[in-house]
Amino acid sequence: MKINRREFLKSAAAAAFSTSAGRSLGAQLPLKVTTIPSSGQQVPSVGIGCRNYRGSLDSEEMGLFRETFSTFHMLGGKVIDTSPNYGNSEEIIGKIMKEQGIRHDLWVATKVDQSSEEDGIARMTNSFKLLEGDSFELMQVHNLRGTDTQLRTMQEWKERGRFRHIGITTSNDRQYEDMERVINGHDLDFMQVDYSLGNRNAGERLLPLAIDRGIAVLINLPFGRGRLFSAVGNRPLPDWAGEIDAESWAQVFLKYVMSHPANPIPIPGTTKPHHARDNLDAARGRLPDFTIRQEMEKFIDPLL
Ligand SMILES: NC(=O)c1ccc[n+]([C@@H]2O[C@H](COP(=O)([O-])OP(=O)(O)OC[C@H]3O[C@@H](n4cnc5c(N)ncnc54)[C@H](OP(=O)(O)O)[C@@H]3O)[C@@H](O)[C@H]2O)c1
Repeated sequence: MKINRREFLKSAAAAAFSTSAGRSLGAQLPLKVTTIPSSGQQVPSVGIGCRNYRGSLDSEEMGLFRETFSTFHMLGGKVIDTSPNYGNSEEIIGKIMKEQGIRHDLWVATKVDQSSEEDGIARMTNSFKLLEGDSFELMQVHNLRGTDTQLRTMQEWKERGRFRHIGITTSNDRQYEDMERVINGHDLDFMQVDYSLGNRNAGERLLPLAIDRGIAVLINLPFGRGRLFSAVGNRPLPDWAGEIDAESWAQVFLKYVMSHPANPIPIPGTTKPHHARDNLDAARGRLPDFTIRQEMEKFIDPLL
């Protein structure tokens, strides 16, 4: 199902975009929030991905990771995404959240990536140990591994209050059909999928399905792992960037994602404080409308 202009405008109006015509962008503008359909919970519309938080707890990089987390938190960021599959990311961010006393301010999502029930339980139990807290805001089946088995445990644990939300993830077109099958066959709160200005395939069926099923969406690879930055190189921002209050290419790319009618929450990966700030600022000010989205697509396509 493709979304036509009329449907786009209807959803966009319902999404209560922040319209700040004529205002200059600045930290004084509020962060746009997204409402999670199944729980009604509201979270800031840009999160942070922690795939690259890896290494020794004594390494110099820990300083950078700490600063990135405190910047993200100080600016009002909440949604963080990690996985036991990202080296020792859970251990690192668990340690940082504890040191900074910010675990309960953050909205923590992790994943399970095992085939058997026992291995899944062991994996999720370990995530609780590393990330602390009595519950997670979101547990996701990573790349659909052991989906039906893991979802059974996850549903039970959700009923016991250990997870507030449950979902599934992919970052690969080849899993899109399976994603649809699982979304249609289970009671999910979230899906996570790859989608960006340069990779719009999930917009064909998966994002419309999320709207139909009333599930929230996290977006991985919103920069195509940096491919979009290479595509634009040193080019200046086009005139239309001013119309959407975007002051950097990162904000252009994130605002494109956020303006899809499924209200997706991008989780850009960064280990740099100034990038965390830049990315969070994408949740301030105006978002592109249907016409500007089309201009953005026309701009990027020849560069890819
Ligand atoms: N199947 C799955 O479940 C799945 C798959 C892939 C990813 N994910 C999740 O999605 C998150 C995002 O994906 P990703 O990190 O692989 O790719 P990404 O967000 O598309 O791109 C990350 C790259 O962009 C750079 N970057 C970030 N902010 C920037 C800014 N403002 N200006 C310039 N460069 C910037 C980062 O470098 P710096 O570190 O230097 O900022 C990094 O090289 C992951 O961290 C992970 O949590 C999930």
